Amino acid sequence: MKKTIKFSSGSTVFHFDSSLEVLGKLVDKSTTYIITDDNVYHYYQKRLKGWNVLLIKAGEAFKNMDAVQQLTGQLIEAGADRRSTIIGMGGGVVTDIAGFVASIYLRGVDFGFIPTSVLAMVDASIGGKNGVDVGVFKNMVGNIRQPRFLLYDYSLLKTLPDNEWIGGFAEIIKHACIKDAAMFKFLEEHSLKEYKKKPALLSELIQRNVLIKAKVVQKDETEQGDRKLLNFGHTLGHAIENTYQLPHGEAVSIGMVVAAYLSKAILDFKESERIVKLVKAYGLPAYYDYDAQDALMKMRSDKKRVKDQIHFVLLEKIGKAVYQPLSMDQIASVVETMGGSVTLSK
Ligand code: GLY
Repeated sequence: MKKTIKFSSGSTVFHFDSSLEVLGKLVDKSTTYIITDDNVYHYYQKRLKGWNVLLIKAGEAFKNMDAVQQLTGQLIEAGADRRSTIIGMGGGVVTDIAGFVASIYLRGVDFGFIPTSVLAMVDASIGGKNGVDVGVFKNMVGNIRQPRFLLYDYSLLKTLPDNEWIGGFAEIIKHACIKDAAMFKFLEEHSLKEYKKKPALLSELIQRNVLIKAKVVQKDETEQGDRKLLNFGHTLGHAIENTYQLPHGEAVSIGMVVAAYLSKAILDFKESERIVKLVKAYGLPAYYDYDAQDALMKMRSDKKRVKDQIHFVLLEKIGKAVYQPLSMDQIASVVETMGGSVTLSK
């Protein structure tokens, strides 16, 4: 099944229920360069036989300008020109780097993605934000350019470790919370085990999530409005992710629960317990004994803060999110209750 979404900077064709082998029909093998990491390559070396492959080291630690330098050097050496296509095959780190390299090489060549993780399939490879980290600062260098296509081959998930399946579901639950009450119910009625066993069910779920994210981005590519809703759970999540070396999905899950209780306090949101139950059902944590003071300090220095207010994504109900400025005091009471019992120093 094919679906085209038109963004301001170009259209993306989503090839759902496809296969890695279809790539040969989408691009010219001789002028295409597949960027992937050593981990993905280890599993799919045979299926990539005959393709030009550029390898990077796996992991967020290698999502930096060194990788960009290395890859552009290799592209020059290989003779890649304006007619070349670059493919990012991997998780979010690979697609972020590959998209960035493709969009700056010779001032931009065509690119496509083959996401290999649940997170990349439903979130990281969609939206056009490409870039790399600079030291501890995430995504400090980058741009917004849309891939020409995304190719979905669910068989690539067979080698995905359990913890990464679970991490991907944090973003799926996030999509349900902010945009799709029916999908929230669908998630309550099914389980991770079932998606692994039933490709049709998995395919339905992935497509639904892709379209949620793609449509939000389509309406607001540069994040002036609706796209901010995708940050649900991420404000507190980002504030604790690095400090406690938590996997992104776990930090987001904890952040969503805090945001749900903030929504309860501020908007009389009545379904926090459903969110707690759902994240737990998918193997994600609902709570974490974080240092509230430290988390609040980090949120305070967040670049999205305006004066003494933080714009927080809250829920009016499941499936309906709003973006609301909150004072540090409003946030502090809930963040403190949910984490360690430390008082915010003013
Ligand atoms: N590349 C991820 C995004 O644009 O959100």
